Amino acid sequence: MPSRTSQVPLPLDVILQGDCRQVLQELPEECVDLVFADPPYYLQLGEETLLRPNLTRVDGVDDAWDSFGSFAEYDAFTAEWLRACRRVMKETATLWVIGTYHNIHRVGALLQDTGYWILNEIVWIKRNPMPNFRGVRFTNAHETLLWAKKSERQKRYTFNYQLMKELNGGTQMRSDWLIPVCRGEERLQADGRKLHSTQKPEELLRRVILSSSNPGDVVLDPFFGTGTTGAVAKRLGRHWIGIERDETYIEAARARIEAVQPEGLPDSHVVERRRLPRIPFSTLVSEGLIPPGTTLHFNRRSDITALVLPDGRVRLGDEAGSIHAMGRRAGQLPACNGWEHWYLRDPATGKMSPIDAVREAYRRRKQPGGGSA
Ligand SMILES: C[S@@+](CC[C@H](N)C(=O)[O-])C[C@H]1O[C@@H](n2cnc3c(N)ncnc32)[C@H](O)[C@@H]1O
Repeated sequence: MPSRTSQVPLPLDVILQGDCRQVLQELPEECVDLVFADPPYYLQLGEETLLRPNLTRVDGVDDAWDSFGSFAEYDAFTAEWLRACRRVMKETATLWVIGTYHNIHRVGALLQDTGYWILNEIVWIKRNPMPNFRGVRFTNAHETLLWAKKSERQKRYTFNYQLMKELNGGTQMRSDWLIPVCRGEERLQADGRKLHSTQKPEELLRRVILSSSNPGDVVLDPFFGTGTTGAVAKRLGRHWIGIERDETYIEAARARIEAVQPEGLPDSHVVERRRLPRIPFSTLVSEGLIPPGTTLHFNRRSDITALVLPDGRVRLGDEAGSIHAMGRRAGQLPACNGWEHWYLRDPATGKMSPIDAVREAYRRRKQPGGGSA
């Protein structure tokens, strides 16, 4: 006999407000293909304010949502949401959960106690971690992701092995992922401060979603925060369901996802892009497509500009270097793909377009049958 909830239509591409332990009960059984959960860490920071050596305050995770009375309370909460997620997972679905040393060992044990079967432990190594300001411990430079199926006996689940291999330059994708923390334009701000203390980088979600779901699948995030999962899912052509308690985060996530344009391309495109012939920026300069003396704008809305030099480097203030190096400098970023961050302004219309668009047009022209050589 079908259960009561199996009759309920599935709300897709929406944020459901409330405590995920209750909200999940209102969803039909076995309705999602993938779960990504970034639950409270239970950091137990206490009352003390953490200061940098220059006496500025460190923006730690001291939010009310991260507060629990005891380990026992945290464990009961964790077991409850893990069970609730397991109920809505299809027989082919998997679940990812991310955490730090504060909580991930408890979550790992509870995953096993509630029937899940761990497939992998992935270490997200942060390129640019926050230092240990007091100098009393090692710099904590990673977080851990556990990837699990519903049970040991579950036969089928999505793992896009070949795609991951291609993304990794032709060798098997390993369990250590080097990705910068979320900074710069991607980081949502409110009143000059981080809107959310633990917004995850889109690159991390991109890898999770590409590896363990297919276009059209439903991705659930029970601790939605700023909606990173929804933004990446939409871009990659997946459906998403977010659950979040906090109204401020919900509003920010809605606006963020609304602005996302789906890539509208098969996943293999991600790989194909990496196979494209390399075109150095200097080629576009020497071919006169972006001539020396052209002004480049760092991102659409910033007022930072750089000047194109005849040798294909760009000058930013008193320094010259590649578009990537000067992009890192302009945005104070640990890594920067200059192709996506430097823009040209059309003098007639004022319209801004990334220099990558010029490279793409050049590539198309150079392809066999793509116009003049
Ligand atoms: C670690 S953050 C997730 C951040 C998110 N991954 C992002 O990139 O923005 C956890 C989020 O879960 C929310 N939360 C905490 N307990 C919850 C619960 N029981 N039900 C739903 N949301 C909850 C918090 O408000 C917080 O935004």
